[in-house]
Amino acid sequence: MDWGMKNRMARLINPETGHAVFLALDHGYFQGPIKKLEEPQKTLKPLLPYADAIMVTRGILRTSVDAAKVGPVILRVSGGMTLAGPSLSKEGIITSVKEAVRLNVSAIATSIHVGTEDEHDTLTNLSRLVDEAEEFGLPVLAVTSVGRELEKREARYLALCCRVAAELGARIVKTYYCEDFEKVVTGCPVPLVIAGGPRMESERDVLEVTYNAVSRGAVGVDMGRNIFQAESPVGMIKAIRAIVHEGASVKAAAEVLAGESKRAVARV
Ligand code: 5RP
Repeated sequence: MDWGMKNRMARLINPETGHAVFLALDHGYFQGPIKKLEEPQKTLKPLLPYADAIMVTRGILRTSVDAAKVGPVILRVSGGMTLAGPSLSKEGIITSVKEAVRLNVSAIATSIHVGTEDEHDTLTNLSRLVDEAEEFGLPVLAVTSVGRELEKREARYLALCCRVAAELGARIVKTYYCEDFEKVVTGCPVPLVIAGGPRMESERDVLEVTYNAVSRGAVGVDMGRNIFQAESPVGMIKAIRAIVHEGASVKAAAEVLAGESKRAVARV
């Protein structure tokens, strides 16, 4: 690994803990202004100190992120479809590697849609990006997207997606936690982070999923809605950090969350 790549990877995955908490705020690229992300700068401000990196599009980076204050950025470079359109899998490359370098980001991210009619295009998009980005020592993070088919979040399918992403050159893979998650981890030779998906039934579920994913081999999370739509977004990201970086139990993390929620109530 050359110096630039090593340096960017070390900015993303903490070399001391070997773990990472990424905050995903890229949802608008196909979902528009979803709940609590109507004004991204307001959502981001209190959470920024606790995120090892943020995942955003260039539009949000330019309009809503202070260039003087932000840490590592993972730039979403795939898109071109929306919730209103005919297909969520028809993703193209919407931002060039040159633009990513100009924006001084630490990684770029693209989605792959394995098993859909757009499998070939999204996989070749990934490999093309890897070829271009590696020239600049820029890691590519592949997202194993499931579109609307949340039931695809199972080990056999995700193990296939993650392995293919790694074989094509992704340096980090973002996937979902699932039963038999070990099978997904074992088959994937690069670090894995998990998305949260739509809001879970309870906030304890978020902590449990994080704990289970990390104890079964994920390096951390790249989570959005279950953090910024939580009752206490700061409490949630702090609790997740405790699990991911400090090896806290679910009970201890729940105490971190409860403590922050109480402080937030006291401030009102
Ligand atoms: C879609 C994405 C997202 O836009 C986002 O990053 C997902 O994060 P979460 O599911 O935790 O809200 O990657 O494929």
